[in-house]
Amino acid sequence: MAFDPKIIEDSFEQAKPIASDVADKFYEILWADYPQSKALFEDANMDKQKVALMNSLTQVVDHIRDAEWLTNYLYQMGVRHMQYDTQPEHFEWVGASLLKTFAHFFADAWTDELQQNWLEAYQAIAGLMLPGLNDALKGEIRKTA
Ligand code: HEM
Repeated sequence: MAFDPKIIEDSFEQAKPIASDVADKFYEILWADYPQSKALFEDANMDKQKVALMNSLTQVVDHIRDAEWLTNYLYQMGVRHMQYDTQPEHFEWVGASLLKTFAHFFADAWTDELQQNWLEAYQAIAGLMLPGLNDALKGEIRKTA
């Protein structure tokens, strides 16, 4: 099943006013469920990182119907993640933690339909970052995806 962009847009709209709480919870869950991930953020300014993550997700959701924009933006984002020591298998950690974070804030409103749509959307997002990361790891970065 592909995701419904309207479901992603509408649900993310509810996360925007509480973006900083969402980011706090996301890293709390990521580090609790995947303690190995903590080392990757050792030198990070986490206040800045939390804002950067939420701004990036906002941009992605704002362009969720624009395949060309998403492909290029997420390719370059994937390329940049090589320098953060991200490995392809780390995407599962982030996806599971992000969905768990949404489930926490949506509580009873976190339906199976919402969960399934976010799962598909995250898989699409990760699937567009991975080529950039993989190319960077091979040393074959393209200017456009
Ligand atoms: C949907 C997937 C992801 C998104 C949207 C995302 C977004 C971002 C953004 C916006 C930044 C700020 C720097 C920049 O723009 O280059 C960043 C940095 C970073 N990301 Fe991600 N990221 C994702 C997946 C991952 C994964 C899977 C990992 C590994 C667990 C990861 C680890 C990091 C690290 C370590 C940094 C650098 C922190 C620092 O030292 O300043 N990210 N990410």
